[in-house]
Amino acid sequence: MDRLNGKTAIVTGGANGIGQAVAQVLAEEGAQVLVCDIDSAAGEVTAAGIRAKGGVAVFCRADVSAAEDAVRVAAQAQQWTGRIDILVNNAAYLGNFHGVLDAGEEEWNRCIQVALMGAQRFTQAVLPAMLEQRGGSIVNVASVQAVAGCPTSVAYTATKAALLGFTLSAAYDYGPHNIRVNAVNPGPIQTRISPKPGEPAYEWQRGMTMLGRVGYPREVAWAVLFLASEEASFITGATLAVDGGWAAK
Ligand SMILES: NC(=O)c1ccc[n+]([C@@H]2O[C@H](COP(=O)([O-])OP(=O)(O)OC[C@H]3O[C@@H](n4cnc5c(N)ncnc54)[C@H](O)[C@@H]3O)[C@@H](O)[C@H]2O)c1
Repeated sequence: MDRLNGKTAIVTGGANGIGQAVAQVLAEEGAQVLVCDIDSAAGEVTAAGIRAKGGVAVFCRADVSAAEDAVRVAAQAQQWTGRIDILVNNAAYLGNFHGVLDAGEEEWNRCIQVALMGAQRFTQAVLPAMLEQRGGSIVNVASVQAVAGCPTSVAYTATKAALLGFTLSAAYDYGPHNIRVNAVNPGPIQTRISPKPGEPAYEWQRGMTMLGRVGYPREVAWAVLFLASEEASFITGATLAVDGGWAAK
C-alpha cells in the first residue's frame, strides 16, 4: 500500500477505462495523482472516487493534443506537490478505424496528435522537473497492435508502433539522468470501447490470447504500477506485454 508514497503522478486519459484503473492503483500505493482527461464529468468522478477511498487525487481537464495543456498540467503538479515523479501517457484517439484504402487524413491526424504527439508533449512538459529531481518514470500505454497486425486499423496500429519507438529514444536520452521510460502493450481489455461478450469481435479477441479470455483494466494498471515503482529501478526501454499471451502465440 505504500510503494509510491510521496510520489506525484500524472495520468492522461485517466477518467475512464485503463487510465482510470491506473490512477486508482497508483493512488492506492500512496501516489498523489493528477487525473487528466477531456472528459471532465468522468474525470471528476474518478478523482472523487479515489479521495473517497482515502487517496489523494485531483482532476485536471487537459487535451493531450494541445501543447499548452501539457505545460499547464505540469505547472499544476509542481504547484500542488512540488514534484513530478511518474507520467503515464495513456490517452489515445479511439474512433472508427479503417484500412489503408479508407483511412483519411482526419483519422491519421487524430491518432498521431493524441497518442503519439500527446506523449511527446506531456513528456517534454514533465522532463524539466524529473531532470531537476534526477529521477522519474514514464510509462507509455501502447497496444498489442504495436507488434501484431489487426484488421482495418492502419493509423492506430502505426501510431502505437511509433509510440514504442518514442519509448526507446526517450529511454536512451534520459537514462543517464535516472529517468526510466517504458511501455505496456495491452491486449484485449474490457473497457467501454471493447466489444461486448457474445459479439463476434469479442470471441475473436478472446481466441487470440493464450489465456482464452479478455483482460481487465486493473491487470494493465498493475503492470504500469510495477514499471512506475522502484521495483523496476533497472528497467528502461522495455515493453511489457499485458495481452494474455496474444503477441507470443
Ligand atoms: N481497451 C483495450 O482493449 C485496449 C487495448 C490496447 C491498448 N489500449 C490502449 O489503452 C489506452 C486506454 O484505452 P481504454 O480502453 O481505457 O479507452 P477509454 O476510452 O475507456 O479511455 C480513454 C480515455 O482517454 C481520454 N482521451 C481521449 N482523447 C483524449 C485527449 N485528446 N486528451 C486527453 N484525454 C483523452 C478519453 O476521454 C478516455 O477517458 C489507450 O491508449 C488505448 O489505445 C486499450
